[in-house]
Amino acid sequence: MSGRTPLAAEVARFLRQRAELQGGELVLDGVDRAEALSMARAGRSVAGDSGPDAPGRTVEEPASGTLRSTDSPDPETSLASFLKAEVEARSRRDAEPEVDQGATDPELPDDYDALRELALGCTRCRLSETRNQVVFADGSPDARLMVVGEAPGANEDASGLPFVGQAGRFLDLLLACVGLSREESVYIANVLKCRPPGNRDPQADEIECCSPFLRKQIELVQPEVILAVGTFAGKLLTGTSSTLGRLRGEVYSYEGVPLLVTYHPAALLRNGRWTRPVWDDLQLLRSVLDGG
Ligand code: URA
Repeated sequence: MSGRTPLAAEVARFLRQRAELQGGELVLDGVDRAEALSMARAGRSVAGDSGPDAPGRTVEEPASGTLRSTDSPDPETSLASFLKAEVEARSRRDAEPEVDQGATDPELPDDYDALRELALGCTRCRLSETRNQVVFADGSPDARLMVVGEAPGANEDASGLPFVGQAGRFLDLLLACVGLSREESVYIANVLKCRPPGNRDPQADEIECCSPFLRKQIELVQPEVILAVGTFAGKLLTGTSSTLGRLRGEVYSYEGVPLLVTYHPAALLRNGRWTRPVWDDLQLLRSVLDGG
């Protein structure tokens, strides 16, 4: 970095941050001012890639920009305003209020089977009108690990079981890599128990209606560790509004239970760039389970 102008250093720092946050393939060593400016001139995209998540769709990384040429004749000016906008967007994101971790619903039963029965007949939100089946959980309620996904997709809605489509089979493979299986050691549930039509994003009021079931499941299953996969589970259980790139790689506590966050297997299937971070997260998961 030595010998770089402040602008080039700022560009390199920003790009390195993006690479770290997204586990991306940006190789920035040696990016100097001239190269950065020529990227601005060429309108080359360095950020704003599709974010990872969710069954069968692409989610945009919120408020991230793209380094594009503008009508400005001066690429240095457009680069500077791009960076300024990015910094402002980041400050706005950082200032977002923390999401309430929420509380369990006192009306929900303390008996597991009764909770399941109640969920299977739930009409708390609009998703009950379009679902075929409520997808409560799979795996053993005595499991050491609880995996929390986002919401059922078409296969899950048809079968009544979570993570049975392509992403689910991939999840099983990932878990097998660290010696875990839903038959023996994993319990799987979602933030939403009913499929959002067309696999759209869960809406805030749907999460509010449905998440007490998940919280009660966690309370009753008492897993040793929770793994949240994808943005919605990660944000809900950490109680933050951070991006997944910022959330992953740490051990949090959910009501005293160690909680890890990683990318959704569907995201990984679409884009291999998250393979390494997911692998690292699984090693961290294994070491937490092993008491490390
Ligand atoms: N994706 C999820 O988040 N959950 C499922 O059950 C299936 C796909």
